[in-house]
Amino acid sequence: MKTGKDNWSLKDKVAIVTGGGRGIGQSIAETLSSEGAWVVVADIDEGNARAVARAINESGQQAMAVRCDVRDESQVQFLVQQAVDWGGGVDILINNAAIMRRGFVWSLPSKDFEELIQVNLIGPFYCIKQCAPRMKERGGGVIINISSIHAFGTMEEMSAYATAKTGLIGLTRACAIDLGPWNIRVLAICPGAVDAPMLHGDRPQEQIEVIRSQWARAAPLGCIVTPQEIAQLVAFLCTDKAPSMTGAALLIDAGVAAHLRVRDL
Ligand SMILES: NC(=O)c1ccc[n+]([C@@H]2O[C@H](COP(=O)([O-])OP(=O)(O)OC[C@H]3O[C@@H](n4cnc5c(N)ncnc54)[C@H](O)[C@@H]3O)[C@@H](O)[C@H]2O)c1
Repeated sequence: MKTGKDNWSLKDKVAIVTGGGRGIGQSIAETLSSEGAWVVVADIDEGNARAVARAINESGQQAMAVRCDVRDESQVQFLVQQAVDWGGGVDILINNAAIMRRGFVWSLPSKDFEELIQVNLIGPFYCIKQCAPRMKERGGGVIINISSIHAFGTMEEMSAYATAKTGLIGLTRACAIDLGPWNIRVLAICPGAVDAPMLHGDRPQEQIEVIRSQWARAAPLGCIVTPQEIAQLVAFLCTDKAPSMTGAALLIDAGVAAHLRVRDL
C-alpha cells in the first residue's frame, strides 16, 4: 500500500511510451505514471494521446502527449527532444506502437509487408537509436520492446507480423549487448492474446467473444492476458528490482506457447 511519494518505484523517471494512446500502451502509460514516472504518451493518433495524458494529469500524475509517427526518424528525434525539454532527460523507452496486416504470403500486398516492418521493427530501432544517448547522459536506462507470441510460433496470414516481432527479439539482444556498457537494459515482452484492440480488430462483438474463448481454450490457464498484467510486468522490469535482467524475451501468454497441441500417441 502506497503511503506517499517516497514509495513510488519509478519516482521522477522520464518514460516514453509509443502507441500510448490506447490499448496496452495506454495501460503501460497509466501504470508507469502511477508509479511516479513522468510519461510521454507518443502516438500517431494525437487525439488519443492527448486524452490519455489529460486523464493522467487529472489524476495528479505527470504526462505529456506528443504526436509521433515512428516510421519517420525526424519525428522520433522531435519526440525525444520534447521529452528532454519537458522532463530533463529520458530514462525509460517502451516500444509498443504497432500495426497488424494479415494475408497469405502469396497475396499480401508488398506495401503492407513494408509498412508493417516500418512501424513494428524500424520504428523501434529509430526510438532506441535516439533515446540511448540520452539514457547514457543519465547514467543508464531501460528499454522494453513489446514483441509477441508470434515470435515463437505463428499462424496463417501472419508473415509480416511474425517477421517483425521475431526481428524485434534480435534487436533486443543486439541492443542489450551494445548498450550494456552504458548501463542500459533492453528486454522484450512477448504477450499471447491480450484483451486489447489489436486482438479485436474491426470484428463484431460476438466474433470477439469467439476469438477470446478460442485463445482461452488453448491456454493451460484457461484465460487470456489483460493489458494491466502486461503493464505491471513492464513497470517491474523498469525498476531497480530487476537490475541484471537484459537481453531476454519474456513470454506472458497464459501458457499457450508451452503446449504443443498434437494428440498423444
Ligand atoms: N492485443 C494483443 O493481443 C497483442 C498480443 C501480442 C502483442 N501485442 C502487441 O502489443 C502492442 C499493443 O497492442 P494493442 O492491442 O494495444 O494495439 P493497438 O492497435 O490498440 O495500439 C497500437 C497503438 O499504436 C499506435 N500506432 C500505430 N501506428 C503508429 C505509428 N506509425 N507511430 C506511432 N504510433 C502508432 C496506434 O495509434 C495505437 O494507439 C503492439 O506492439 C502489439 O503488437 C498485442
